[in-house]
Amino acid sequence: MIYFDNAATSFPKPMQVTDAVVDYMTKIGANPGRAGHIQSVRAGEIVFETRKKIARFFGVKSPMNAVFTSNATEALNTAVKGLLRDGDHVITSAMEHNSVLRPLKRLEEHGMITLTLLDGDERGVLSVEEVLKAIKQGTRAIVLNHMSNVTGTVQPVREIGELCRSKGILMILDCAQSAGIIPVDLCADHIDIACFAGHKGLYGPTGTGGMVIRDGFNFDSITPLKEGGTGSLSDKTVQPAFMPDKFESGTLNVAGIAGLSKGIDFLNSLPEGLKSVQLHKQTLQKYFIEKAKKHIKGFVTQSETDGYGVVSFIIVGLSVSEVTMKLSDRYGIMSRQGLHCAPTAHRRIGTFPEGTVRFGFSVFNTRDEVDIALKALKEIAGGN
Ligand SMILES: Cc1ncc(COP(=O)(O)O)c(C=O)c1O
Repeated sequence: MIYFDNAATSFPKPMQVTDAVVDYMTKIGANPGRAGHIQSVRAGEIVFETRKKIARFFGVKSPMNAVFTSNATEALNTAVKGLLRDGDHVITSAMEHNSVLRPLKRLEEHGMITLTLLDGDERGVLSVEEVLKAIKQGTRAIVLNHMSNVTGTVQPVREIGELCRSKGILMILDCAQSAGIIPVDLCADHIDIACFAGHKGLYGPTGTGGMVIRDGFNFDSITPLKEGGTGSLSDKTVQPAFMPDKFESGTLNVAGIAGLSKGIDFLNSLPEGLKSVQLHKQTLQKYFIEKAKKHIKGFVTQSETDGYGVVSFIIVGLSVSEVTMKLSDRYGIMSRQGLHCAPTAHRRIGTFPEGTVRFGFSVFNTRDEVDIALKALKEIAGGN
């Protein structure tokens, strides 16, 4: 089996990730922050250690500003619905995932916010000038996808962040694809809230993700998405107002968080950290695209040669589902077809409504695997 669906969720995970999950499940098992017994304390330590690692990873000093959620979608919903208020104007891009578009559209349909969706250039990349032009009285926030899950397009986050900070506009960044590939520093990049998936480039288990809030941010201004038991202030019937309990109601996915902790360790242990990840993915992407353009009949890609391992393509004359089905059934190659939950991105790059085939490479993919996929695609396209 060759797994190229890493942009959906990464597989395999580093062995230490699996080991940490099994360790927690077999040796600890308890609920953190809910009891004084030693097992609960040990579970709490795992969560706190991971919180510290996440905060550090995103350039934030206070570990309490790292909130765990079950995925990037929950984090984005918390940030968007928790921050925006009646009358706000919000800027976003055509390259967003539905995890951003759907919450924003709901608020727009309910008449709560007005929304400007910026097209960017032909690859969906925004310029500072375009954002500046869209800012008007009442613009409260920009919600931006750092790295497209369709094309791998990367937005100039620091420049846009700088502009937003100078105008007093909040910056919410969707790091679902970029975390673990491109360094994100909330302070240097002028980001207020970063939402991440733990199960993609951070190599944690499914069911992990979170929201990191910059140091000094007034988190009182964010309404929690859910309320309930936190193990703290149990005599009160109202939600605690402090971090991170305000946003972490219900039992945490400690098994997943234990794994995520080791996923971050794994990235930090690479010879050059995220640079090693980038280099590996860029090498595979360049190799795949160059060979495919040369040897596969009808191959057209919507991704750049020098991207970080998210490659969208079509084979002219074949439906994308035919291609992915044949790759899976005949060759054991896992890829994803369609719109990838990003309809406006596909409209922007001209592949709506059919979508594309997507290969998402991970640090564990090899050139040999790419060669096998190239051969498979050549055979599939050859029957065109
Ligand atoms: C850019 C982007 N944003 C958000 C998400 C949602 O992530 P999750 O599945 O962790 O909710 C994804 C998932 O593919 C994504 O690619």
